[in-house]
Amino acid sequence: MKIFIDTANIDEIRQAADLGILDGVTTNPSLIAKEKGKFKDILRNICEIVDGPVSAEVTALDVEGMIAEAEELTAIHKNIIIKVPVTVAGLKATRQLSGRGIDVNMTLCFSPLQALLAAKAGAAYISPFVGRLDDVSHDGMELIEQIVNIYDNYGYETEVLVASVRHPIHVVQAALIGADVVTVPFKVIEQFVQHPLTDVGLKKFLSDWEKVRNR
Ligand code: E4P
Repeated sequence: MKIFIDTANIDEIRQAADLGILDGVTTNPSLIAKEKGKFKDILRNICEIVDGPVSAEVTALDVEGMIAEAEELTAIHKNIIIKVPVTVAGLKATRQLSGRGIDVNMTLCFSPLQALLAAKAGAAYISPFVGRLDDVSHDGMELIEQIVNIYDNYGYETEVLVASVRHPIHVVQAALIGADVVTVPFKVIEQFVQHPLTDVGLKKFLSDWEKVRNR
């Protein structure tokens, strides 16, 4: 399973990249808005740190506007892929962009049928938002199971990118279901690196070693 980081913060991206487990980055307008500086500079800096897909989202609502923004964004760096919402215009733009060999990550997916349409439009990734579904009392991970089943049934190559991840259990469940990618906020990456029993065990090994090391 690929692990992407869900942030536009350069320090967090650098720290996660240093772990040696990072496969890509997802951004969205809200994440970019939290950072200082021009958005193109932020995206360029991210691409220089991570050698993998970096999702940059269009904000136009019409097909022509989406295509124009996609052209501008892909010109920033070869690692940029285009994030487009699952709307009627988004599906049409995805069909055109994928036809030109540009990878599209269809975002704001909340239903299995949206995911089916994204695959048929040629999206490279579909991003179902599990945390936001959980927030409205709908089991987000159930949607991941449905999409993985549908894609397996028909052999679609669109990768299931689990988004809106809130805690490590989402990551475990995504891996058990067989999702292709999870995109994870930095604080959740930190959480799944740590286990209290690892710390306790290490402390005991080191104190026992102190007793024998000079024998
Ligand atoms: C990433 O692709 C999504 O935009 C992001 O995971 C949304 O997360 P949120 O629901 O925590 O804002």
